[in-house]
Amino acid sequence: VAPPGAMSVFREVTLAAPVAVFKLTEDFNNDPFPDKVNLGVGAYRTDESKPWVLPVVKKVEKIIAHDDRLNHEYLPILGLPEFRSSASKIVLGDDSSAIQEDRVGAVQCLGGTGALKIGAEFLKRFYNGNNNTKTPVYVSAPTWENHNDLFISAGFEDIRPYSYWDAEKRGLDFSGFLGNLESCPERSIFVLHACAHNPTGTDPSQEQWKQIAEVMKRRKLFVFFDSAYQGFATGSLEKDAWAVRYFVSMGFEMFCAQSFSKNFGLYNERVGNLTIVARNSDLLKRVLSQMEKIVRITWSNPPTQGARLVAVTLNSPDLFAEWKDNVRTMADRVLLMRSQLKAKLRTLGTPGTWDHITNQIGMFSFTGLNPKQVEYLIKERHVYLMASGRINMCGLTSKNIDYVAKCIHEAVTKVQ
Ligand SMILES: Cc1ncc(COP(=O)(O)O)c(C=O)c1O
Ligand SMILES: *[C@@H]1O[C@H](CO)[C@@H](O)[C@H](O)[C@H]1NC(C)=O
Ligand SMILES: *[C@@H]1O[C@H](CO)[C@@H](O)[C@H](O)[C@H]1NC(C)=O
Repeated sequence: VAPPGAMSVFREVTLAAPVAVFKLTEDFNNDPFPDKVNLGVGAYRTDESKPWVLPVVKKVEKIIAHDDRLNHEYLPILGLPEFRSSASKIVLGDDSSAIQEDRVGAVQCLGGTGALKIGAEFLKRFYNGNNNTKTPVYVSAPTWENHNDLFISAGFEDIRPYSYWDAEKRGLDFSGFLGNLESCPERSIFVLHACAHNPTGTDPSQEQWKQIAEVMKRRKLFVFFDSAYQGFATGSLEKDAWAVRYFVSMGFEMFCAQSFSKNFGLYNERVGNLTIVARNSDLLKRVLSQMEKIVRITWSNPPTQGARLVAVTLNSPDLFAEWKDNVRTMADRVLLMRSQLKAKLRTLGTPGTWDHITNQIGMFSFTGLNPKQVEYLIKERHVYLMASGRINMCGLTSKNIDYVAKCIHEAVTKVQ
């Protein structure tokens, strides 16, 4: 029992705001309405609204459980060797000359978030060879909200948005984006979504990526790819890696944070990979040696289970093929929901073309619904979505899609 009058050492702690997407799920869970729909959370759901353990993951879990050679010793600080250099090399491709030249390395990280975090901490300490906290970090407007805070917490002071979304035409603001690339300070850091941009579902075309690369090269901008949805954009891992591979082929030194949360359905296993592409193998070695120091003070050693699941899958041709098939199953369901939602809104005569629903790719759609319409959907119709109007297409199912379309129609026609 505290002595009378004693003051808590925590008295100055203020209550932090809840993380929006998890708050939304909590509100959804607390809603007793039987036909409620959750379009918020960024995770895959089956047509029965259930999480999906990929069949290939179930299979590999059994293989691992029965392998008596495995143990629970500490992994190396930089991660499981088979994970860090899987035969299939899914981001860069088997034929990457940068890999053959031994100037690509990796750090196993705690999810895509961990990969971004370790990359940001490294850049804060070593980018440009100095302690340059003033280097601007550009993130897309809008972006995954964690990008901002993550770079701030690494010590960067100047986080700036680059133009990305054109709300009027519901598509990419390419000239605005290029304009920012041209006018920003040289050597600025740019966080680029490798594919299936979160939250807009809108990616540059290959031609546009080429122009982006040209300006970034000329202006010595640093590329930090965030690849959280490989496979979800087109259903093909290769096609979804196009931009990253193109930048590597153009000779950039860069980082790429890879998440396996979505495409392996391993959300809670925290499986991520930070790829480092350096000018030569000596530089790579030095960078990795410093990454090792940063990991040591951050989580010291990464967890094994998820990395093993991924490595076993990628290193077996049969399991790899099965995984690609599982990824296609998820991507196809998203595509189906896109076309059905658009068709239903058109049938209802909801104002707007709704072409953006099928033009956008990946897990999310940026509907263009405004905050008032979102509020109406949540409060009056029990359809939960992010205030930005972002919906997770996998939240739609053959059972709830008619209801959701009807509610969106109401929101658009009743609420301005
Ligand atoms: C754009 C983007 N980057 C990174 C991540 C982080 O993924 P992970 O859960 O693997 O940390 C997410 C997850 O939602 C994301 O949407
Ligand atoms: C991690 O990144 C390295 C370097 O790009 C790559 O060789 C390796 O295959 C990646 N691991 C996985 C599981 O994709
Ligand atoms: C880096 O900069 C910060 C803030 O200006 C300073 O406190 C710190 O001592 C610097 N570190 C090094 C290694 O120079």
